[in-house]
Amino acid sequence: MRVLRQIAAKLMSAFLRPRAGLQQLIAKVDKRVSATDDLAAFAESMRFVNNDLPPRVLLKAQEEWAHVQEELSGLVRRTSYRHQVVEMDAGEVFQGVSSAELGQRLLYSLVTRFCPTHCVEFGSAFGTATVAIAGALPEGGRIEGIELEEWRADIANRTLQALAPDKGKVFVGSIEEVFPRLRGFGGFDFAFVDAEHRYDACMKYCDLLRPRVAHQGLIVFDDIDWSGDMRRFWRDLCRDEWVQSAALFNGRWGVIRCHRPTN
Ligand SMILES: C[S@@+](CC[C@H](N)C(=O)[O-])C[C@H]1O[C@@H](n2cnc3c(N)ncnc32)[C@H](O)[C@@H]1O
Repeated sequence: MRVLRQIAAKLMSAFLRPRAGLQQLIAKVDKRVSATDDLAAFAESMRFVNNDLPPRVLLKAQEEWAHVQEELSGLVRRTSYRHQVVEMDAGEVFQGVSSAELGQRLLYSLVTRFCPTHCVEFGSAFGTATVAIAGALPEGGRIEGIELEEWRADIANRTLQALAPDKGKVFVGSIEEVFPRLRGFGGFDFAFVDAEHRYDACMKYCDLLRPRVAHQGLIVFDDIDWSGDMRRFWRDLCRDEWVQSAALFNGRWGVIRCHRPTN
């Protein structure tokens, strides 16, 4: 059994390892974005960078995630997976819900480019995205994650402290209950929304974020290509006057730049 687990962990680490030339981000910038918008410029520049080696912090994280995967493989957990409660191998849960390398790189690159200091994540799971964001934060920057399942949040916090100490924390609980209690000082300038992938839930997350995201803040929505429901959410969101500019990466990651209309 142990040997099988080790083989599975090796396969997992090979899977997480960067494969030059295989991964590329293609961005589709929403038509309303002006040519001078820096989100559009970022989207344009991202077409090519993903053939490079990932930054060191992400390489280190990939090693750590391979250990986590090894630790979890073979443990059966009663947990929520794809909107259902199931009994499932914890290693498979990890692999099934976590952001893989391309998503980690996009988040890392966005944070490096836009230098936010107050970040929030809706749905942190095991923390793969949290660590990618934390690893790119400027001095003094912080990320606060929210995760419903305690065992996932524990792993996220442990790994976050190991790889990016003092850069943030993952809180256990529901977004609806925890987010209003987070401080965010002058407003959150970066949010990663990756919890329930349904139209109504995502609109509700927007309602929570709207009054608390800083002018020019960025929000990244994962899994726009998950369903027709999610694509409809993205289409409707892009029509909102809150959205200054929008770009969709690989049809999956929707990024908006927010502005506060002046009254
Ligand atoms: C796709 S996973 C997140 C993956 C993670 N962001 C990453 O990139 O590795 C979605 C997570 O959202 C959590 N979640 C779903 N609804 C939630 C809610 N209302 N409040 C807090 N967490 C929630 C789930 O427990 C799950 O772990």
